[in-house]
Amino acid sequence: MVGSGAREHALVWKLKQSPRVTEIFVAPGNGGTALIAQNLDISASDIPGLIKAALDLKVNFTVVGPEGPLAAGIADNFLIRGMPVFGATRMAAEIESSKIFSKSLMQKYKIPCPGSTAFTDYAAAVSFVKKQIPPIVVKADGLAAGKGVVIAQSVAEAIAAIDEFMQKKTLGEAGQNIIIEEFLAGREMSAFAFTDAHFTAMATYACDYKRVFDNDEGPNTGGMGGYSPPYFLNITLADQVLNTIMQPTINALHDEGRPYRGVLYGGLMINNNQAKVLEFNARFGDPETQVIMPRLKTDLLDIMLAIDERKLNGLKIEWADEVCMGVVMASGGYPGHYETGYPITGLDTLDKDVMVFHAGTKTGSNGQILTAGGRVLTVVATGKDLNEARKKVYANLPRINFKDCHYRKDIALIKE
Ligand code: AMP
Ligand code: GLY
Repeated sequence: MVGSGAREHALVWKLKQSPRVTEIFVAPGNGGTALIAQNLDISASDIPGLIKAALDLKVNFTVVGPEGPLAAGIADNFLIRGMPVFGATRMAAEIESSKIFSKSLMQKYKIPCPGSTAFTDYAAAVSFVKKQIPPIVVKADGLAAGKGVVIAQSVAEAIAAIDEFMQKKTLGEAGQNIIIEEFLAGREMSAFAFTDAHFTAMATYACDYKRVFDNDEGPNTGGMGGYSPPYFLNITLADQVLNTIMQPTINALHDEGRPYRGVLYGGLMINNNQAKVLEFNARFGDPETQVIMPRLKTDLLDIMLAIDERKLNGLKIEWADEVCMGVVMASGGYPGHYETGYPITGLDTLDKDVMVFHAGTKTGSNGQILTAGGRVLTVVATGKDLNEARKKVYANLPRINFKDCHYRKDIALIKE
């Protein structure tokens, strides 16, 4: 397993349940993966180091969690050596790593998405936004870890964002080119499709909460919690997502000579029970993975091997009827500046049916788990409905403690 987040901890937790899995190594992993697998001191971006470790340790199958290594071609590097891997190739992963490519693909193949225009020239972008009516959506072309999207409420704010991306180069190369996009109102949903490049199995759906504070206030984060499946999902919407978005996109990538194998993540905006694509990602979501893996009844390794062998069509993927929700515990100050190295207490006092997936944690010298990042833990439970799952998680959260920790109180609270 390549990566170190709660997403990777949840994937390792699920893969360990497969009778065919004998041993799991995680590079670099975290304090939670160290409890159930063996961490390797190799960065997720060190592709030569990962290949060497996989060869030395006789690893049969590698799973890539984050987008960075995929965009850098980790899957291609494994595949040319005949080493099986779960993760999109560099060309396929451009669906995430280049918003300009992703948009042009959607436009060419008429995949529902907001109207947009790409710019490689600063002056042209500025003169274009002067004619737009706010809100105006400005997006950096490249990977920006969530910092590449600005929803400007005025033309001046949009120009300031273009300045930051294209002139001041605050995101480096990722912001050299941009797109300017139509603003869409509605509610967001994440769709995950497993595909072997031909057959697409709709995996499942989830919702995440990106803002740091309750009632969706404060700055965007990597996600403060989530739940699955979305309560507003229905068969009409699911059919539209599969038949007008996920399957056509996978077919389009195939036709463009970029066959996509792995999991395709559609970030969707829903309005009037119709979905449009805000972005695609070439990987599982975080925190979505932490709330979809507990619902997966099928052996995850079987799914990954079926994709590798192009036999996904023959596999039945089953999900529990139960719902699942999870809340992220973060360090004080996150998503801004925060301190790390604080002991985490109470992890051994939780109810049996509550799961904790670690992200920014490490094991201290005395075996104590310490904070090591902004996003620290995702605390997860399943239930017959969201209320039951919420009650379990929120009853257990106060038992976990570390200095200055914070979390949202309104995850999966349905107000309508
Ligand atoms: P993205 O990384 O493209 O998913 O954008 C990050 C977040 O910005 C999304 O989760 C949405 O909340 C918001 N967003 C992106 N594009 C749009 C859009 N065209 N209209 C409204 N909100 C958007
Ligand atoms: N949940 C947002 C992401 O994984 O990109």
